Amino acid sequence: MTVDDEERVLRDAAVVVDGGRIAWIGAAAGAPAADDRVDADGRALLPGWVDSHTHLVFDGDRTAEFEARMAGQSYAAGGIAVTRDATRTASEERLRGLVAARVREARAQGTTWIETKTGYGLDVASEERSARIAAAGVDDATFLGAHLVPAGIDPDDYVREVCGPMLDAVRPFVTWADVFCERGAFTLEQSREVLTAAAAAGLGLRVHGNQLGHGDGIRLAVELGAASVDHCNFVSDADLDALAAGDTVATVLPACDLSTRAPLAPARRLLDAGVEVAIASNCNPGTSYTSSMPFCVATAVLQMGLTVHEAVRAATRGGAVALGRDRGAGAIGSIAVGHRADLHLLDAPSATHLAYRPGMPLTAAVWREGSRVV
Ligand code: NIG
Repeated sequence: MTVDDEERVLRDAAVVVDGGRIAWIGAAAGAPAADDRVDADGRALLPGWVDSHTHLVFDGDRTAEFEARMAGQSYAAGGIAVTRDATRTASEERLRGLVAARVREARAQGTTWIETKTGYGLDVASEERSARIAAAGVDDATFLGAHLVPAGIDPDDYVREVCGPMLDAVRPFVTWADVFCERGAFTLEQSREVLTAAAAAGLGLRVHGNQLGHGDGIRLAVELGAASVDHCNFVSDADLDALAAGDTVATVLPACDLSTRAPLAPARRLLDAGVEVAIASNCNPGTSYTSSMPFCVATAVLQMGLTVHEAVRAATRGGAVALGRDRGAGAIGSIAVGHRADLHLLDAPSATHLAYRPGMPLTAAVWREGSRVV
C-alpha cells in the first residue's frame, strides 16, 4: 500500500466493514478475512457525499422563473411564495413520494447523508407538516419558517409566529433552525430573534446569508455560534475575519450560483483564510434544481479554483462538520475506523475524474451503514 499524505489517498488499500461501521483500513494484501468481498478493481472509493443544504419538501416547479432569469432577470426571494402555494395544496402522501424520489436521485449520484429544510409552508400547520415529512425522509431536518414573510402579514407579527407557535409545532421533528437573513427576507434584528428563540428551544443554528448582496448574515451566524452560514456569495474582509476566528462553516452552493448567475462564492479565498468550507447542492425548485453533488464538486474545481482534494473534502467532511457529525463513533464524511460505512465507489481510477469528466455517470456503487443502496 502507498499513502499520499497530502491528498490522504491510499493505494492498493482495503476497507473492512462490520455492523455498519468501518472496522479496519489497511493494505489490501493484509486484509482480514470477511464474509463478503467487493473487488474495487482499481477504482476509487470515497466517503459518500454529505449534502448539508437542501430544500426537498416542495411541489411544483419554477421553469418560467428560470427562463426569465436566463433572459436577464435577477433572482429575488419572491418566487418562494410560488412554491409555497404549490406545496400547501399538495397532499402529504404526494409530498412524501416527491421527497423519496429526490432522495433516490441523490443516492444514485453518491449522496449518503442529506439535510433538508422546511420553508415552503410558512404557516403553523404547513410548516409542521413539512417538518414531519422532512424528518421521515432524510437524515437531518431543519426548520426554516423564516424563509419569507408571507404577503399581507406584518413582518414583526410573522416573526412572533415563527418564534412561538410555529417553533413549538415543528420542535419534535427538527434538530436545526435556519433563517434567510437578507434584504427582501429577514432583517438582522428579526433573524437574531428567530435564532435566539430556536437556540432556547434546543435547536442548532444555521443561516442563509450574504447570497444577494453584502449584509449581516455571516457575522450574525458567527456571533451566535451557528454551525454553518450558507451561500456566502458576498464576503467582506470583516466577514472573512469573523469566519476565520470562529467555528462556523462557510457552505458554498456552486449549482445555485450558476443557476442564479450570481458571483461565485469565494471558496478559494475562504479556504486560504483558514475557514472550514462545505459544498452542498441546495436542491430546490427556485435557485438550484439539482441534487448532483458530483456537478457541484466539478464546478468548485473548474470554476472556483479548488483542488479536487479540497472540493471532495468540502463535499464530504466539510458537510459533516457543518452538521456537527464529523466526530466520534458513527461520524460521517470520512473513511476512518469507527465511522459509519457510508461509501461511494467511483467508476473511475481517481477522484480527479469528477472534474476531468464532468457530467459523466461515475457512480459505480453506494453503501449506507454498510448496506449497498446503489
Ligand atoms: O437557498 N435563499 C433562499 N432559499 C433558497 C431558494 C428558495 C427559492 O427560491 O425557492 C436558496 O437558494
